[in-house]
Amino acid sequence: MKLSFNVDHFASLRQARRAAEPEPVLAALIAEQAGAAGITAHLRGDRRHINERDLRMLREAIKTKLTVEMAAAAEMKAAALAVRPDIVCLVPEKPEELTTTGGLDVVGRRKALAAHITALTKGGIKVSIFVDPSPAQIRAIADLGVRKIEIHTGVYAEAAPGQAREKALDEIRAAASAAARLGLDVTGGHGLDYHNVGPIAAIPEMTELSIGFSIVARAAIVGVDRAVRDMVALLNPRRAR
Ligand code: PXP
Repeated sequence: MKLSFNVDHFASLRQARRAAEPEPVLAALIAEQAGAAGITAHLRGDRRHINERDLRMLREAIKTKLTVEMAAAAEMKAAALAVRPDIVCLVPEKPEELTTTGGLDVVGRRKALAAHITALTKGGIKVSIFVDPSPAQIRAIADLGVRKIEIHTGVYAEAAPGQAREKALDEIRAAASAAARLGLDVTGGHGLDYHNVGPIAAIPEMTELSIGFSIVARAAIVGVDRAVRDMVALLNPRRAR
């Protein structure tokens, strides 16, 4: 199971003081050496953490794969085409939210999304869509010709252990298997940490998890290298020494 490490919150720390450090790119390079298979960053409309300069620096410096999360908005399309990440993951965005709160409504926005996706694809960028574990949404994504999804794991991550969590996990398992049957590359993310990642990492159809906050929080205490290695080991229990 691959890890794409989301470096947004190094930029959040920098922006807390409108300062020049820490540089997210530095964390990204250490994370790659510690086993991250990719780096993710979210360009938000309010630029509360990552900005265009970060994206340019990440694009130039990292050796793995750059995923940029962004809304399906004209301004973001221009930013993506300027930076040319390997992957754009389309997410819904509300200015007032602390973090992304759900998957993109593809069923309701099919037509507008189709043009947006075509523009990105023509620019040589692979498109992924952040989606709730909903069979109807996943089918709509496949119908649009998109070959990659990120299943929203936030409801699972936030549920108290017990029935609600098992139900959320079952929904993610079913969605992953339905998406794989449609030929989609299935990834997941949101709210995953060192305690809850195990059952998600064990889903056979999942190829990669996008994890940010929990790794950055641990990195603040033990360093980026240790924090990333700890997570990579949890994602690959059979390979752990
Ligand atoms: N996937 C998406 C689409 C996200 O918006 C985020 C948060 O930026 C993540 C994954 C990572 O979530 P977390 O920081 O909770 O690990």
